[in-house]
This record gives sequence, structure tokens and C-alpha cells, in this order.
Amino acid sequence: MRPLVAVVDLAAIRHNYAIAKRCAPGRQAFAVVKANAYGHGVREVVTTLHDEVDGFAVASLEEAAEVRALHASARLLLLEGCFSASELPIAAQLGLDIVVQGEEQLAALLAADLPRPINVWIKADTGMHRLGFSADGVRAAHARLRAAPQVAELNLISHFACADERGHWLNEQQIGEFLGLLGLDFDLRSLANSAAVVTLPAAHLDWIRPGIMLYGATPLLDMTAAELGLKPAMSLMAEIIAIHDVAEGDSIGYGAGWTARRPSRIGTLSCGYADGYPRQAPAGTPAWLHGQRVPLAGRVSMDMLTVDLSDVPLAQVGDAVELWGANLPVDEVARAAGTIGYELLSKVTARVPRRYQA
Ligand SMILES: Cc1ncc(COP(=O)(O)O)c(C=O)c1O
Repeated sequence: MRPLVAVVDLAAIRHNYAIAKRCAPGRQAFAVVKANAYGHGVREVVTTLHDEVDGFAVASLEEAAEVRALHASARLLLLEGCFSASELPIAAQLGLDIVVQGEEQLAALLAADLPRPINVWIKADTGMHRLGFSADGVRAAHARLRAAPQVAELNLISHFACADERGHWLNEQQIGEFLGLLGLDFDLRSLANSAAVVTLPAAHLDWIRPGIMLYGATPLLDMTAAELGLKPAMSLMAEIIAIHDVAEGDSIGYGAGWTARRPSRIGTLSCGYADGYPRQAPAGTPAWLHGQRVPLAGRVSMDMLTVDLSDVPLAQVGDAVELWGANLPVDEVARAAGTIGYELLSKVTARVPRRYQA
């Protein structure tokens, strides 16, 4: 069997959920488990949070159906709403909360014949300009939905564009826009993603929506996950499958993209971009073995990558190497590769087996 596994620490996810709840005392939380729980495995994550969670949030009806099969009673929010009118009766049947993010969704809901009324979250565009109604649009939607027979609760939701950057001018502006809508009569309000959970108490309101922090990566640009007390949930573990001694001047890998400046020991690892490791990760991107960082040397291939083991004389074929995880924050690898932890975690591909630790 190929020696590559994503080890998922479920206790870390429970710990991180508890931190999110502690940041926002008395508030309810939708654990965001879209995209296969950011790559960690939605089945196991939902099961591990089953007894303590207030609710879950997902991006599609298919994801919602999977979560509903695992948890019959949790509130379950469809973050982008229904993509077609035909999804509405199914959403009602599954007992989902749905976002209504635009005129088309609003019209479809008002025309729908539903088996039971549904909890609706009107999405306000408070500054991100991706989904949602303008302030006037929210008022109009509110007036039309308040008395609609399809609607059980009528709630308000919005999403931050820059909450990862503390003090960004847009954060306060978005909070102001949101609070400005609360003269309308809403049952519940939700605004905070992970970054706002940890830095913007004014955005906590009724329901927080932590995603990335559950998985132990940082939601902030200027603080590490460890500084926030978060525990990494996924460790991507490969092995050294070959070691080559190369001379000064020898090049490594595709495109001869890296050249040894000294006689070097090059380790070949059992992980590549078809596993989700970022191909754009440059030379120098760290991996972790024998208690220290080793730098990538040469381009990432489909199934393998190479590291410079010259400073780890003990390293040998068969040794375990952490590509990110418990010892090497995914955020550090992401930064080196010019991306974010979210992308690395959610893109670990299906061919990488997940191994769960309770
Ligand atoms: C609407 C919405 N709410 C909450 C989240 C969770 O965000 P984060 O993972 O930054 O906590 C997301 C994720 O993208 C989202 O799209």
C-alpha cells in the first residue's frame, strides 16, 4: 500500500469547536462542514460533533442530505440556498434552513408548494458583493416573506469579506450595514465566520458560523492557529521512498528546476499534486521529519516530491514525513505555496486514505 495518509484527529475538532463556542458565550454555532468538512471527511466530523453541536452549514442540497442522514435533528443551513425551484420541497422535507440570496431564489420560494414551512435566512450584501440583497432589497424581501406561508422563521445572514485582516475598514462597515437592518423584525441573525468569531464580538449575534477554525488552521493573517489555542486536525503523512546522493551541480526533478549547491542527499516522498499537495510550492517549502524542517528541492510531481535531506543524516528510506499537521502548521506550508490553509485542506484528494483518531 502506498505510504500516504491524512491522519485526522477528531478530538482536535471537538476541542476547536469548544473554543469557537467559548469565544461567543451564549450564542449558537453552525459548524461549517461543506466541501467534505474542508477535506476532513464529513461523515466522521458530523459524527464526532453529533452530541455537542447546535447545527451544521453546507453548500449544497447533496451535502445537506448527507449530513441529515447522520444527524436527524441538528439545524442544517444551506449557505447558498437552493439552486433551482425543484430543490425547495426537498429542502423543506429535510428540515433545512435555507438562505435566500437573490431575486430568483425569492421568487421561486414565494411560488413554491412546500410540504412544510421552512426557516429562511435573507442574505444581505453588506459589502462583499458576491451574494445577497442590498439594504433596500432586504427590506423588500422581508416585506414579501414575513407573511408568506412557505416561511417559518425569518432570519438575517451576511458574510465578511476581510475579517481575516484585523482592523480592515470594511469589517466595521459591514457590521454597521448589518446592524442597520435590525430595525426589521428578524427571528435570528448570523454574521460571524471563524475570523469574526475570534476578533469581532459585535458580529456574534445569535448564530456564529465557524469553519476553518474547527480544523485547526488560522482564520487570521496575523495570528497563528497555536496562538489562538487551536489544534491542527489533519496531518498529511508521507514516507521517504528513495534517497539519492547527488553531486554539487546536479539538478533534481522535472525541468531540472533545482540545482544542488553542495553534495546533497535528496529524499523522494510518496506525495504529489494528484494527492492535493500544491504543485506551485517552491523550493524551500518546509516538510517535517525527525523533529525538524526540511526544504522542498525541485518541482512537485504528480505522485512524488523531493526534499533536501542533507542536514538530516539520520533520515532513511521508510521514515515518516509530515507534509503539514501536528508539527508543521498547514498555514506555514500554504504561505510558502502562495495560498491559504483552506485550499490545501479541502483539496486533499480522494485517493489519500483518511485515518481517524478518536
Ligand atoms: C457563508 C459562509 N459562512 C461561514 C463560512 C465559514 O468561514 P470560515 O471557514 O472562514 O470560518 C463560510 C466559508 O467560506 C461561508 O461561505
